[in-house]
Amino acid sequence: MPASFYKIGFGTWKMGGTTLPDPHNDDRSDIAAIRDAIDNNIVHIDTAELYADGKAETLVGQAVAPYNRADLFIASKVRETKLNYDAVLTSCAQSLDRLGTDYLDLYYVHKPNPDIPAEETAAAFNELIKQKMIKHVGLSNAGVETMRKYAAALDVPIFAAQCHYNLIVREPERKGVLKYCREKNIHFIAWRPIQLPCEELNIHGLFETGAYPLLDQIARKYAVSNAQIAVRWLTAQENVSLIFKTKNPRHLREIIDAADLSIDPADLKELTDHFPRQEDTGFTTTGKSPLI
Ligand SMILES: NC(=O)c1ccc[n+]([C@@H]2O[C@H](COP(=O)([O-])OP(=O)(O)OC[C@H]3O[C@@H](n4cnc5c(N)ncnc54)[C@H](OP(=O)(O)O)[C@@H]3O)[C@@H](O)[C@H]2O)c1
Repeated sequence: MPASFYKIGFGTWKMGGTTLPDPHNDDRSDIAAIRDAIDNNIVHIDTAELYADGKAETLVGQAVAPYNRADLFIASKVRETKLNYDAVLTSCAQSLDRLGTDYLDLYYVHKPNPDIPAEETAAAFNELIKQKMIKHVGLSNAGVETMRKYAAALDVPIFAAQCHYNLIVREPERKGVLKYCREKNIHFIAWRPIQLPCEELNIHGLFETGAYPLLDQIARKYAVSNAQIAVRWLTAQENVSLIFKTKNPRHLREIIDAADLSIDPADLKELTDHFPRQEDTGFTTTGKSPLI
């Protein structure tokens, strides 16, 4: 396991489009952003078949082509509508094809589907492990009960759990997922660490100044940006790493630098206990989206 996996990885949501490919997408700048991350020693690249309906995976494949595959840690996800046995096998093969690789380091259930038994999906993941198409199994957006069901049906331990988690979204800590992951030695990976603004819920991004006075104050104290404090709050926690996305080279370096900032534990505790806006449930732009 590369050491840098444990701190920060690079996300690809909104590369190539949103849920569908954008015909006007600037593919070259997406590829350049992924390569910039790799050139700055980020080895963990996170993508999904859902992102731009496969286009993000294609862009990742193009971006990583000149690099040594063994130096990278590539993760993708099978979407919630494809969790039947045969569908998982087909989706994984298609992802590998788009990514131009013959294995994934990590393959996630993107979001559990209550209508498809965990045992059936787990059986497909067992087969993918057996065929060496994937090295590790992950669950994304799963609650503790779902994780237990998968743990019982998988031939391998769950490797990673990916959840919406940041200073605002506290669902994984409030619903026991963080604790479960620590107990079971499962990597916990926070998605959306910097938080995009959400107009529906009147939520500002964590990179914005003037939105959260406590964040402004602590960032000023260390002469860093608000985004850096948001990232450091996550990386300071036991067993927590994160994936973030940027197309801005300055932001990339800012976030990399943030992972090891020296911060008084009292300030981190103040953020944990008194961050002014805290939500018990994760959300998307269309509303609340609890762990399943
Ligand atoms: N499992 C799931 O269901 C799930 C759901 C959502 C996301 N994810 C994964 O998690 C990754 C990260 O989440 P995300 O992309 O939604 O959100 P994010 O990384 O928290 O935020 C991305 C936004 O933050 C901006 N940004 C990045 N660094 C910044 C900085 N230093 N200062 C100011 N702004 C900065 C970026 O804009 P610029 O380009 O301008 O820097 C971008 O608009 C995704 O890409 C995806 O791979 C997984």
